[in-house]
Amino acid sequence: MVRLQKQAEFYAEFTRTVLLKAGLVPGMRVLDVGCGVGDVSMEAARIVGPSGAVVGVDQSEAALVTAAERVLHAGLTQASFSRGDLASDGHGQFDAVIGRFILLHLNDPADSLRSLVKRVRSGGCVAFIEMDLTSAEACPQLDIFDKAVGWIREVYIREGVEIDMGSRLFSCFASLGMKPTLEAFQRIEGGAEAHVYEYLAETVRSLMPRMIALGVASEGDIDVGQLASRTKHAAQIGGQCFFYPRMVGAWARTP
Ligand SMILES: C[S@@+](CC[C@H](N)C(=O)[O-])C[C@H]1O[C@@H](n2cnc3c(N)ncnc32)[C@H](O)[C@@H]1O
Repeated sequence: MVRLQKQAEFYAEFTRTVLLKAGLVPGMRVLDVGCGVGDVSMEAARIVGPSGAVVGVDQSEAALVTAAERVLHAGLTQASFSRGDLASDGHGQFDAVIGRFILLHLNDPADSLRSLVKRVRSGGCVAFIEMDLTSAEACPQLDIFDKAVGWIREVYIREGVEIDMGSRLFSCFASLGMKPTLEAFQRIEGGAEAHVYEYLAETVRSLMPRMIALGVASEGDIDVGQLASRTKHAAQIGGQCFFYPRMVGAWARTP
C-alpha cells in the first residue's frame, strides 16, 4: 500500500499536466477507464470541478470501494464509480475519455481505444498515460537492480502485458487516424534517502507469488527481505542514480 501511495505521489503532477494539456476544463463529463483506487479520477474531478462529472470504471470491486471512500473524504462528489469491463457501454456520451496504466493490460489496446473513442463527442478529448518498463535503469549499471527489474519484466511479459505501452501509444492512436501530442516524464533518484530501494523491493514483493508460480525466480533467489538494503548498500559503494520507468502521456481531440 505504501508503494501504491508513493506511486500515486510520484505521478500526480505529470497526470494533472497531461489532463490539462489534453483540454480538460471545468464542467466536462469525463470517463476514466481502469480507474483502480481513483487517483486519476480524483485529478480529473479537481479539474472539471463541481459543475462537471467523472465516472470511473473498473472491474475490481475492492478498488472501487477504496476509490469511493477517497472521493468522499476529499469532498469530490462530482466523481462516481461503476463496476464493469471498460468495453461495456453505458453512462452515455462523454466530453473526454482518460486512462492511466490500463492499455498495457488489454489484449488489443488499439481496438479497445477505438471503441472508447466512440463514446466521446466530436471535438472531445482522449488522453492516456502509460509506462515503458524497459527504460528503468541504474546508472552506472548495477547487477542487483538489473536482476530485480528483469524478474518484474519477465512476469509481465509471460502474462502478456505490453511492457513498453508508453512508446506504443503513438501507433495506437495513429491506427485510428488520430495524431496525438506526446509528452514524457521520468523520475530519477539517488543517495541514501532515495525511495527507490523500498519501491523496488515492494514491487518485487507484490509480484513474488506470480514470479514463483511462473518459474521466473525462486524465493531463495529473490531474498526479498534483503533486497532494499542490499541495493542501497551497493549504490552507496557504486554511486548509482536510478531511473524509474518513463511515463508517456498521449492526447488528441476526437474528429
Ligand atoms: C495498474 S491499475 C491502474 C489504476 C489507475 N488507472 C491508476 O493509474 O492508478 C489497472 C486497473 O485496470 C483495471 N482493469 C484491467 N482490465 C480491465 C478491464 N478490462 N475493464 C475494467 N478494468 C480493468 C484493474 O482492475 C486495475 O484496477
